[in-house]
Amino acid sequence: MNERMLALSSYLLGQSFLLSSMICHGRGPKNAHLALHADTPGPQPYPAQCVMANCNIALVDYKKETGCLAIVPRTHELCRPPSGSETDIYNNPFAQAIEVPAGSMILYHGNAWHGAYRREVPGVRMNLAMPFVRNHLSTQELIRESVTPEMLERNNERFAMLCGQYLFNGWRKEGPDLGRDPARAAALGKAMSDWRFG
Ligand SMILES: [Fe+2]
Repeated sequence: MNERMLALSSYLLGQSFLLSSMICHGRGPKNAHLALHADTPGPQPYPAQCVMANCNIALVDYKKETGCLAIVPRTHELCRPPSGSETDIYNNPFAQAIEVPAGSMILYHGNAWHGAYRREVPGVRMNLAMPFVRNHLSTQELIRESVTPEMLERNNERFAMLCGQYLFNGWRKEGPDLGRDPARAAALGKAMSDWRFG
């Protein structure tokens, strides 16, 4: 529910975006590098309008020798993944190491080419990765189905929306819930306006 994360993600994906998963990526000295790639799902060319974005929080200091993230600026505009030698993180002249202190948030368009360098020093590089998608795409984790009543209870409706609780599709034989609880709809409206203007 970090405000900056919500603001940047809403800019890219619209306010109705969904949390797709929440996962840590560890990278130790025995792991290979991660070749440059793009994360946008679906056929190519990718849509120019962002349908998927990645939020990457550095849990340790990010440096090239510690196995940090690399991004190739402006590649989100190409609407395709890299191919052949373009995927070579060490020889692509446009790849930039994202060297930031622990606690930094890097949020990027799913079309953007990115990867990770080998870790050249002892220890483990660790991040918290949160991919987000527009709400017509399926999520990597079944968050909508797995979020608990307790989690929904202790957060606001903005959180419920992020966790797919306002998705229209996916009904069972009972049919869609067209008669949305008016109290809940009002709470969502308040949560959205509090976030936007509060
Ligand atoms: Fe990726």
